[in-house]
Amino acid sequence: MNQPVAIASKPPIVLGVESSCDETGVALVTLDPLTGAPRLLGQALHTQVTMHAAYGGVVPELASRDHIRRVVPLLRQSLDDAGMSLEAVDAIAYTAGPGLAGALLVGSAFAEALAFALDKPVLPVHHLEGHLLSPLLADVPPAFPFVALLVSGGHTQLMRVTQVGEYELLGETLDDAAGEAFDKTAKLLGLGYPGGPALSKLAESADPALVAEIKLPRPMLHSGDLEFSFAGLKTAVLTRVKAAEAAGVLTDVLRAALAAAVEQAIAEVLVMKSVQALKQTGLNRLVVAGGVGANRHLRESLITACRRRQYTVNFPDLSLCTDNGAMIALAGLLRLLAGADTKMAGGFAVKPRWPLIDA
Ligand code: KG4
Ligand code: ZN
Repeated sequence: MNQPVAIASKPPIVLGVESSCDETGVALVTLDPLTGAPRLLGQALHTQVTMHAAYGGVVPELASRDHIRRVVPLLRQSLDDAGMSLEAVDAIAYTAGPGLAGALLVGSAFAEALAFALDKPVLPVHHLEGHLLSPLLADVPPAFPFVALLVSGGHTQLMRVTQVGEYELLGETLDDAAGEAFDKTAKLLGLGYPGGPALSKLAESADPALVAEIKLPRPMLHSGDLEFSFAGLKTAVLTRVKAAEAAGVLTDVLRAALAAAVEQAIAEVLVMKSVQALKQTGLNRLVVAGGVGANRHLRESLITACRRRQYTVNFPDLSLCTDNGAMIALAGLLRLLAGADTKMAGGFAVKPRWPLIDA
């Protein structure tokens, strides 16, 4: 099934489709012919956040149905945004995993069918590789090699990235992901889904003196390795919230202070382990990716910590932190340019569970 793709002298245009969870994203990416830097030509995104909010989390069946409804209009919108027609597309990339099986199947069936109709090659992409490479979608992309801190709703990983497709797992969470810790503690504080942005917003109004009085654990901060654990943090917050409720003192002021304390605890662990990963690998560049990478406190803490030690740190544009089609198009494009096996359309299989090092 695998066939080599003839790459024309003009940089290829790759269409990317993301549908692994609760965002439907379609985007077109190419390389700038002058600078060689990746360039976003057009994109369209629909988030299902308001639809799932009523249930306090993602409802997989509703997610799949909504992806079906959205994907064709989003394709049209992204083409309009780029000012081009489907014929200009050279290859189609889609998220093949990990993620919700039904949601993945929508994007995969759509991309494979489109590729079949257009007689173009397809590139099944690993969702985390999309996140990992998203910071490269910049005017001045970070150079390889680097340490990547991948912090999404389902994953917290430190990776050594030597080049496209060469990833070494340095450490990961043993239980909850950082995003999950944000979401679960946000729920305990009575905040809606998704919890990360809501908790971060609440934390902004916290009284620093009160925050300093709240002692939350920094799980595995001094474990000496690059593993993480965030489940204990959630339990500690649960205990505090229950005690405050029982004493009738769970005021908005205390909730804000708890939110800030949680944010600080998560950020401190992520910063410390990222610095440790840089030391351990001898690399001097950190690249941050994934939804939690949008957190302002984390960004500021990483910038300060890296500046102090003369490391550089790169973040994707805020709009590229959470799920989107551009990062999938980019991962497909870079894989294509690196000579990855592409296949002609004609069958699809998604991988709801899929370690990145196997991609
Ligand atoms: O990467 P992503 O969009 O989806 C996955 O692949 O999981 O990450 C979603 C996660 C959620 O847990 C969400 O609460 C968190 O990213 N998140 C944030 C912020 N924005 C999104 N967490 C903290 N602060 C934010 N500003
Ligand atoms: Zn994601």
